[in-house]
This record gives sequence, structure tokens and C-alpha cells, in this order.
Amino acid sequence: MDQIEEIKAKVDIVNLISESIPLKKAGRNFKANCPFHSEKTASFMVSPEMQIFKCFGCNLGGDAIKFLQLYEKMDFWEAVEFLAKRTGVKLVHRQLTREDVFRNKLYQINSLISEFYHFLLTKHKIGEKAMEYLSSRGIGNQMINEFKLGFAPEGTDAIAGLLKKKGYSTEEIENSGLVLPRGSGYRDRFFGRIIFPLFNHRGLVAGFSGRVIPGLSSSDGPKYINSPETQIYHKSENLYGLWLTKQEIREKKEAIMVEGEFDVISAYQKGLKNTVAIKGTAFTEEQAKLIARFAETAILALDTDSAGSEAIKRSSQIADAVGLDVRVAALPKKFKDLDELARNKPELLEKVFLKTTPVWDFLINLSLKKNDARDPAGKRRILLEILPFLVQIENEVIKNFYFQKLADALGVGLESVLMEAQKAKTAKSVFSGPVLPPRQPTSRRDLLERQFLILIFAARDWQRFKDKSWFGLISDSLLKRIVVFAGKFVKKKKEPEIASFLAVLPAELKKGFEEIYFKSAEAKTDSEGKEIKKVFLEIEKESLKGRLSKLSGSISQMEKQGEKEKIKKLENEFVEIGHRLSVLENE
Ligand code: UTP
Ligand code: MN
Repeated sequence: MDQIEEIKAKVDIVNLISESIPLKKAGRNFKANCPFHSEKTASFMVSPEMQIFKCFGCNLGGDAIKFLQLYEKMDFWEAVEFLAKRTGVKLVHRQLTREDVFRNKLYQINSLISEFYHFLLTKHKIGEKAMEYLSSRGIGNQMINEFKLGFAPEGTDAIAGLLKKKGYSTEEIENSGLVLPRGSGYRDRFFGRIIFPLFNHRGLVAGFSGRVIPGLSSSDGPKYINSPETQIYHKSENLYGLWLTKQEIREKKEAIMVEGEFDVISAYQKGLKNTVAIKGTAFTEEQAKLIARFAETAILALDTDSAGSEAIKRSSQIADAVGLDVRVAALPKKFKDLDELARNKPELLEKVFLKTTPVWDFLINLSLKKNDARDPAGKRRILLEILPFLVQIENEVIKNFYFQKLADALGVGLESVLMEAQKAKTAKSVFSGPVLPPRQPTSRRDLLERQFLILIFAARDWQRFKDKSWFGLISDSLLKRIVVFAGKFVKKKKEPEIASFLAVLPAELKKGFEEIYFKSAEAKTDSEGKEIKKVFLEIEKESLKGRLSKLSGSISQMEKQGEKEKIKKLENEFVEIGHRLSVLENE
């Protein structure tokens, strides 16, 4: 057995979930109010037989691993490791692909080089100037160690040689992003800079950034340079600081988003430990998704200059689309960024985050400040600036609240704002979030077929699948495949039971089947099979009715074409089926 299957077989999902959520017994299932959406009646179910959970309200569901991912915000492997410990399964590492091996090499290289740069900064004479710079910025030794800051000296192209000596191949060295080709050899990418290892949220060094040190001769070029995209460093996915701050973010359910490395480190040093840095760019969708795993609210504490406001606009939509509440913290004007605030007025650090503004209010206020709301041209500009953002708000109630607010601010009726919003909406979507497919509408026939299967499984009436004569009555293609599969299954198994059925059920049928089985575990026992008979009868009737309506369609078609012979045949059939239907209806 695969290790993950072994873990899943050993963990008891009912025990696991009931440690976090009180579960009540409901037939063969357990029930609770769903922890993933708000509700008053319990539609969150846990099935001990299938070892899965499912919410019939919000549709989230899965196994024990999935539960930990959703509820504890663990990533897949964290959840597997957690459950491995709990069940006492020893994880032997899975078969690594060639890419995995290569990526691991790159992580090793980065870890080695981060230690090297850290050594040069903290232990070597060459790092003295850099140390002085850090201390001039108020960064103490403890932060230097926790963030593993380093120093890349100028004028020595040490990295390629060092890596070669440690046995790394040319391909690995080139793909590390740490060196650039020069002549027939390599030069270091980072030189004369303070080095920030960019740990990913799992604590592995994915890349680096380096800041110039004022007064160091050859440290010219941009203020910061970063690793290029590599197999392990993706700029758009990285959030600086998360590996150290995720715990606090999870506890507070709030993440403070800042622009730079120093903002994170300075704030952290002064005790504000739920920040991450987006590193100057606009918040990306990947970053938003990542932070949404840990936090419910993202508080933007970006630079006080105007570029910051542009970033706020873009960030707001992206974060809203992944379900994060976005708020804006106003830093005192005197301070350019959180670093300056933390250094100069640490006593204000906590206070600034006690009073934050929902991002939509922030954007409206900003536009009202810039434009004259009494002047028609001003009103127009305000609408142009604000509506493209407001129309994107996912939640209808919140969206309407802000339309009203905007209408009030402009001194006009809500109606006219709504009309303009319609235009803004069709104009261009600034950001289109993921769309969940709607649930399929079900006909009475579908419902009956489903109910029929639910009752069969409630009674564990496997025998019924031995007789194939009724399979033709099942019209839904998913259900049909399930019954056909069950038919083959009972033929092979002496004692059919659900666990072995689930183990062999084709993956594409699983989801549909799980839903049916959940319902079946709730269904009342139908000891004499009365209910099942009734439902079956209804399906037969529906099927006959369906055939009648098809026949009458064909008959009128033939009448148009004057096909007398065929009409006669069809009419006979119609009468015959009508008769059968009336017999069933009198039963
Ligand atoms: P800022 O220019 O606001 O710098 O860029 P800062 O954070 O205040 O830096 P210090 O305090 O002067 O050291 C914000 C962030 O954008 C990224 C860096 O991560 C920086 O911290 N950045 C900036 C770059 O990646 N490249 C650049 O050239 C500049
Ligand atoms: Mn700064």
C-alpha cells in the first residue's frame, strides 16, 4: 500500500475532526455546522465508512489530509507529516522525479550560500562595513541571525568556485541564479550588498535579494537586486518573512502587507510579527492565495507616497477575489514606510493597526479628496476612478453598500450610480476571478434516480445489482455508470462491502458516488423495502411518460410528412404504453 493510503487508513477522520469541531451522530454519518461557511443548520457531514467529510452547503469536502489543509491551513505535505506522526506511520521518502532532485540541489546550493554570506557578514572582517550599515539602521544581532542576513563582498567572484569545489555541476551552478557568465567563467550576481535570503513559507531558501550599502565603492546599480526566476524562485509567489511570521498570522487571522525587507525586519524586531513584504511589486494572485491560507484579513501598510495608492487599487481586487478582507492602515505622514515608523516611533506600531479602513472606503475617500464632488466634472472623474473597482466586489451586499455610499457622497440617487456601474461593468473587467461552475439543475427524474440509489445503499442491498434488468431505467449518465460498475463488482465479490467498492471505483465516479453514499447513511431504514418500491415505481412512470412525449413528438412530425404507415405504428405503440402507464398509476 502506498504510504499516504496507509496513513489515511489508520487515521480516524471522525476522531480527528471532532478534536476541532463538535460532531453529532446522524444515522451512520456525523454532522456539524460547517466550519468553512456560516450556517444555522448543520450540513457538514463526516462519514466514518468512507473516511471523508463533505459540506452539502458549500460543497467543500475531502479526506483527512484535505481537512487539515482547509482547517489548519497546512499544505499537503505538512498534513501528511502531521498524520504520519499521529498514526505512527514512518514516512519513507517518495520516489523523487528528476526535477525534484534538481530542485533539491538548488535548495541545497541556496542554503549553503546563505550560510556563506551570513558567515562573511557576522564573522569575517570583510563584513564590518555591512555590519555598521545594519546597525546604523537599528538592526540588532538577533534579527541578523533570525533572518540570516548576509554580506556579498565586491571584487571576489567566489560563488562558482565554491560550488564547484562542493561538487555541484555546471548546470546546477548556472541554474542557481547566483552567478552570471563572464568570458569563459562566471562572476557573482551579488556583490557589495547586504544579502536577504528569500525563504519560502516552508523555510527553504528559494532565492536572494541584495541591497546596496551606501559608501561601498562598487555597489552601484539599482537599490535592490533579486534572484532571477529559477526552478525554485518565482517572484510572483514569494512573500518575504512568511516563514517566520506565518504562525502569528494564523493566530491573529491578519497579515500586514508591507513593501520591503526592512519593513518586515524592523517591525519584527519591535514585536510586530505578523507582517510580510510583497517586495515593491503589486500584490499578485499567487501571493493573495498564499496569504489567504493563513489569514482572513490582509492589511495593506504600503509606502505613504502616491505609488502606494496605485498598488492599493490593484491589490484590493486581487485580494477580494480570493476572499480576503482588505483593509488599509494609514501610517503617519512623517514616516515613509513601516521601517521608519518602527525605528522612530515604535510606540505607535500597534496603534496604527488598531484603526484600519476597509479598502473600498479608502479608495472612495482618496478620490473624494482629489476631486470636487460638487462639480459635474468632478463627479464624473470620481465615478470613473471608483466604479471599476466597486463593480468587482464579490459580495453583493457589500457592493451595494458602497454604491449607496458613493451616491451619498456625490449627492445623487442610487439609481443613477447603478446605471453607471452597469456601464463600468461591461466596459472592461479589471480582474476576473475564478468562476465556480453552477450546480446542475436536476429534473424530477434525476432526483428519483438518485433517491433510488440512496435507498439501495442505505439498505446495503447489494443483491439488487445482480439483476441488470432495471439498469435501463437509469437515465443519468453518472448514475448509470455507477450501477453498471456496481453490477460488475457484485459479480466478483462474495461479500461486497463499501470500503472495497470505494477502493476500486473509478476516480471520475467517486465524487458523485460519495454524495449518494452520504445521503444513504442518513436515510431512515426502509426495512420492508416499501420506500424503495415506491421510488422505483415512480421512475418507471417517469420513464413511460418520457416515452409518450417522445412518441407524440414523432407522430406530429410524421403527420407533417404524411407518412400514414408509420403513424399507425407509432399510434399503436402510444396506446400500448399509455395502457402500461395507467396500470402503474393504479398500483
Ligand atoms: P523601496 O524603494 O520602497 O525601498 O522598495 P525600501 O524598502 O524603503 O528600502 P530601504 O528601506 O531604503 O532599504 C521597496 C521594496 O521593493 C523592492 C525591495 O524589496 C524593496 O524593499 N525593490 C526596490 C526591488 O526589488 N528593486 C529595487 O530596485 C527597489
Ligand atoms: Mn525603507
